[in-house]
Amino acid sequence: MSLRLGDAAPNFKAQTTIGEIDFYEYLGDSWGILFSHPADYTPVCTTELGKTALLQGEFAKRNVKVLALSVDPLDKHHGWVNDINETQNVSVGFPIIADDNREVATLYDMIHPNASATATVRSLFVIGPDKKIKLTLTYPASTGRNFQEVLRVVESLQLTADYSVATPADWKNGEDVIVVPAVSTEDAIKKFPKGVKVVKPYLRYTPQPNQ
Ligand code: BEZ
Repeated sequence: MSLRLGDAAPNFKAQTTIGEIDFYEYLGDSWGILFSHPADYTPVCTTELGKTALLQGEFAKRNVKVLALSVDPLDKHHGWVNDINETQNVSVGFPIIADDNREVATLYDMIHPNASATATVRSLFVIGPDKKIKLTLTYPASTGRNFQEVLRVVESLQLTADYSVATPADWKNGEDVIVVPAVSTEDAIKKFPKGVKVVKPYLRYTPQPNQ
């Protein structure tokens, strides 16, 4: 059964490049990103993990812990990490799960048999501090993900969690946000001292509250 938004993210224990971890303990009170890629020593995956490593500081600033997964064994992961560091000019500091028995991949429905019987697709889950699934993304093996977009969604999710606002199409950090429908205009005016622009009763903007 696939995991849907709002579902509890299943806990698991796994061998990783930083040792054995319990997923929930690893996350603690942080946000989490769990993402799979098809295989070690493949070109698109190498660039994806390189990009993630480049953004480690950005994820840490937003209190996000990242965990990658593929169904290859640990010794293969270690050798490949050396290649990623060398070719992408980074230092991979996040764990990569060695899911060679496919336990986690099965738990998170990361193998789509009509795409590949054995390899994981590019699944990505954003998990909130409440351990609930906040975002799911599924990309095919041939398309590398846009990790700037992943960061952008995390920023949007965190704004919604902290300030009851939503973000419009193509929103970028720093731009105006939308007052969620559950907040009346009267309450919005009190809640957002930077001002509320009412375009329609259901379409109300306010400057990003945390800037
Ligand atoms: C890659 O990561 O480069 C890749 C993996 C499987 C199929 C196509 C590309």
